[in-house]
Amino acid sequence: MRHRGQGSPDSKYRMNYELRRQASGAMALYNSESRETMHPKKGPWQEANDLYVHGSGLRQLLQPSGGPGQEGPLVIFDVGLGGAANALAAIRCRDDLLRAKRRVRPLRIISFENDPTPLQFALENADRLAYPVGSEDAMEDILSHRKWSDGQGTEWMLRLGDFQELILEESERAEIVFFDPFSPRTNPAMWSRQVLEQVYQCRKPGGPLRLVTYSTAYGVRASMLLSGFFVGECLLPDGTMGGTEASLFFSDLNAPLSPRWLSRWSHDRQPWPPLSKSKDYPRLRKDLQEHPQWSQAIFLMERPEPTKRNDGPRPKRPPTSAKSATGSQGKKAPGKARPVKRPGKQGETKKAAFPKQRFAKGKKARKPKSR
Ligand SMILES: C[S@@+](CC[C@H](N)C(=O)[O-])C[C@H]1O[C@@H](n2cnc3c(N)ncnc32)[C@H](O)[C@@H]1O
Repeated sequence: MRHRGQGSPDSKYRMNYELRRQASGAMALYNSESRETMHPKKGPWQEANDLYVHGSGLRQLLQPSGGPGQEGPLVIFDVGLGGAANALAAIRCRDDLLRAKRRVRPLRIISFENDPTPLQFALENADRLAYPVGSEDAMEDILSHRKWSDGQGTEWMLRLGDFQELILEESERAEIVFFDPFSPRTNPAMWSRQVLEQVYQCRKPGGPLRLVTYSTAYGVRASMLLSGFFVGECLLPDGTMGGTEASLFFSDLNAPLSPRWLSRWSHDRQPWPPLSKSKDYPRLRKDLQEHPQWSQAIFLMERPEPTKRNDGPRPKRPPTSAKSATGSQGKKAPGKARPVKRPGKQGETKKAAFPKQRFAKGKKARKPKSR
């Protein structure tokens, strides 16, 4: 099946996609120009569900808890729509909750993509990819009209163009970001501080924001930290780790990076945020070393666990928003973001905005492989 209009031989887009079987047996989209596979190894559907849906805590966030920023629909920015595995996994997650008769928030997915051909290709190969089967109408509507709705509270929209430009004029505010461009080697601009700072700004005022991505590269995580985020490893449903999560608040992270990560960072061969200039390295190093992530992580490591007999209130953490500690442009505000404040005696007041994932019982978390 060739979809009408877009991706046809006379259009400005070239079809550079083919199917490749992955180690897991699943088929995935391979781009012959960048020579990159979308969702390699595990395949699109499993990675979409394990990393993006589970890793973002979407299922819990869809069920209203009265937490901060939960008024109105839950908005996901799906950066790099590609073959739509991530977007469809989010839609099915909500469908499952509806079928189970749970109370569910409306869901709005805003996908960003500068090339509609992978979506068209996925649609044409729905049977072999398997995950698009049953969602062909939605994919057709996205290709033809750039929007789709199931009439039951799920809306899906496509912003077609360069994300770096689109994000500057986007009026929607996000709670979750599926950040899935090609790798920093192929597409460094998308992982630069300039872009990640824009992503940081796309939250609802006062609301939470969690970004999940497959990359665990030192330069990528440095870019996120220097853009204002707190950063940690993503916990997958089987209790292993994979990918990266970034949040406005340290307390929302499941497995925060520790100062040990910072010392490994300084030995990495590509530690700098993509596209940063060598003249800026000394300043970037200093800003990274002074990031409040490290004082928060030390505090967490040193905090005594309350015993049964002394089950009193937990000590207060140092400030939890990197931007509140570093100023809105990521610059350090005088007198704030100082390392380790010793705990006071008051109870902890900030409730985590995102649900925590749990390690699977009896499983040891494995170190992620860098991508
Ligand atoms: C790894 S694939 C995404 C896979 C997809 N999330 C899925 O679930 O199938 C990366 C996608 O990002 C898109 N992309 C790359 N640079 C972009 C940009 N500057 N703006 C918008 N999309 C971009 C590519 O065209 C490609 O489709």
